[in-house]
Amino acid sequence: MSSSDEEGGGEEYLFKIVIIGDSAVGKSNLLSRYARNEFNPHSKATIGVEFQTQSMDIDGKEVKAQIWDTAGQERFRAVTSAYYRGAVGALVVYDITRRSTFDSVSRWLDELNTHSDTTVARMLVGNKCDLESIRDVTVEEGKSLAESEGLFFMETSALDATNVKTAFEIVIKEIY
Ligand code: GTP
Ligand code: MG
Repeated sequence: MSSSDEEGGGEEYLFKIVIIGDSAVGKSNLLSRYARNEFNPHSKATIGVEFQTQSMDIDGKEVKAQIWDTAGQERFRAVTSAYYRGAVGALVVYDITRRSTFDSVSRWLDELNTHSDTTVARMLVGNKCDLESIRDVTVEEGKSLAESEGLFFMETSALDATNVKTAFEIVIKEIY
């Protein structure tokens, strides 16, 4: 290894984080907002798996998060066990304007628990908080579910970028 590869003197860290939740809650847009600062108002349902790698600096060390995004729709999903394999963090996303997506959270947590161990850093994310006028799930309900399940909690908007960076970075810092 040349000395330039060791610039900064530190090792590199690579963490796998998965995003799960029902279709159309905004998983792909949360990822594109975080990794590329992009939002797509007409995004199509994800088919299979996509991922993006994003770096952040913690205590002078470069930490890379490899963030995986898959389809909320069962018929478009990739092999479940492969998706979760090696994950050390997870964002479980619902849409604050659709209660059915909040009701699904427990099923997503069951799947996560089945395919990963309990040390995975978990964040419950109520997305689309820009749509306050058509809110269907209160902040208190989100908080209380997160507390009872031992998850971090945050409401986000991929559209106006509220809390998106913070949500990912809390998970990444918890892993680190
Ligand atoms: P699947 O890939 O089918 O699982 O869906 P997804 O969870 O990846 O949802 P996606 O990111 O494709 O977003 C679905 C729709 O919601 C799109 O029309 C987005 O533009 C919209 N959307 C995503 N995030 C937000 C948000 O924070 N606010 C608002 N108003 N719309 C959003
Ligand atoms: Mg998607």
